[in-house]
Amino acid sequence: MSTIHHHKILILDFGSQYTQLIARRIREIGVYCELLPYDVKPYFIENFNPSGIILSGGPDRVSDIGSARAPNIVFELNVPILGICYGMQTMAVQLGGEARNSQKAEFGFAQIRARNHSKLLTGISDETNLDGHGLLDVWMSHGIEVTRLPLNFELIASTDNCPIAGFVNKEKNYFGLQFHPEVTHTKQGIQILERFVTDICKCNKNWTTDNIIKDLLVNIKKQVGNKKVLLGLSGGVDSSVVAILLHQAIGDQLTCVFVDNGLLRHNEGNEVMRTFSENMGVKVIRANAQQYFYDKLSNEADPELKRKIIGKAFIEIFDHEAKKIKNIKFLAQGTIYPDVIESAGTTSGKAKVIKSHHNVGGLPDDIKFDLVEPLKELFKDEVRTIGLKLGLPKKMLNRHPFPGPGLGVRILGTVKEEFAEILRQADQIFMEELNNHKLYDKVDQAFAVFLPIKSVGVTGDERRYDYVISLRAVETIDFMTARWARLPYEFLDHVSNRIMNEISRVSRVVYDISGKPPATIEWE
Ligand code: XMP
Repeated sequence: MSTIHHHKILILDFGSQYTQLIARRIREIGVYCELLPYDVKPYFIENFNPSGIILSGGPDRVSDIGSARAPNIVFELNVPILGICYGMQTMAVQLGGEARNSQKAEFGFAQIRARNHSKLLTGISDETNLDGHGLLDVWMSHGIEVTRLPLNFELIASTDNCPIAGFVNKEKNYFGLQFHPEVTHTKQGIQILERFVTDICKCNKNWTTDNIIKDLLVNIKKQVGNKKVLLGLSGGVDSSVVAILLHQAIGDQLTCVFVDNGLLRHNEGNEVMRTFSENMGVKVIRANAQQYFYDKLSNEADPELKRKIIGKAFIEIFDHEAKKIKNIKFLAQGTIYPDVIESAGTTSGKAKVIKSHHNVGGLPDDIKFDLVEPLKELFKDEVRTIGLKLGLPKKMLNRHPFPGPGLGVRILGTVKEEFAEILRQADQIFMEELNNHKLYDKVDQAFAVFLPIKSVGVTGDERRYDYVISLRAVETIDFMTARWARLPYEFLDHVSNRIMNEISRVSRVVYDISGKPPATIEWE
């Protein structure tokens, strides 16, 4: 029997930007956890049968009427609870304590002093003061704090500005921390979380890469039996890892379809075929549909409509190829855990669609498949680790994200084959130089954008009137917000010269210095 889910932690999400980080940290420690919206129905929480519960931070003010509360069931299950920031405040208020506006809001580093030798913090410190109290450098971000402890609670941490920065109910194993142990700025954060899940919740560390792979292979075999599976392979991390997993689990029962839509990066199609088909023996059909996509896109300049056309054309080609293969029962997809979290939403759901994202889905009604989604419990970093363990090239796994509509959203306005060719060359030069200068891994996403406007230039005595390329590089944690990367001027100068000298149709290169928000990362 699989044991990877045997001990598990439930994280209730109150909407903090760090909630997913809590989950990733718990997984890193080696314990399975899931994240549910705070207002999930109580029976989900009960059925989940957690060994412990974490209440996340969140944007509400706990003193406001109607602010979020943990469902009462969490206090009835008789399991340890850790409230972080807002989670601590709501626990305090719900159990009879009080929380109010802080005298002084705290955003950033703070030093807390551990008190009363709690199970959670004892022996964990960055330094010790003269009285023998542990001192911890932590990350605070709050304007409200607990001002009165509930009955049977005692203090376990304080700072100069925040007298109640941590508390415990020893009998029930309820803990609250005003600071964020999940962010790396809190140096001992991972030790604190590990103490909670292993010593206090008594979870075994079964969530390891080897165990996960074993479990996935067993489950895929069990689900698929001797039936055939189809996979749309894009060459991106998720679909690549699904391909290798399925190949290991069911061998030739898997057929992959790789659609070359003419909007891929330099040499990408050949690399995908080499890696999977030639090196690994995976059955891959390559659909060369470049012209089909260019034709469909030839009269459309609107970004949203372009995305829809690309999505629809993909499905048409995929469907066409799928129909050639007989007796397919399953469609495999590279859905990962953040996709599941996003689509689940909260009952009070505030998520907005900024751009329609393109994934395989919406296949016509006459092809009906059951879904195989082996990665749907995994975070991206876990998917990468598994891919690496299964032998996928590091270079492929560590590539920056590439949007589903590909170069289609990086050629502004109407897409033409000629523009795609120019952009591919410019992008390739940029990537090559980022790698040569060891800058590729220092930024989170970098790419070139084709601007269909003409600008005057001069080469020798010749006047030129050619296109503009914009370079974009960003630093980001979650791609929801981003800072433009401060790449060295010398480097940018070198890339710009190469692009203008080596690509005859480009007369000017610009560097995008827009943050997100207000700009998005992609230009369309
Ligand atoms: P934006 O442009 O919204 O991008 O700031 C955030 C991240 O999402 C990627 N992106 C997409 N990914 N299909 C995808 O699979 C899409 O349609 C799409 N649009 C944007 C983008 O590259 C960045 O990493």
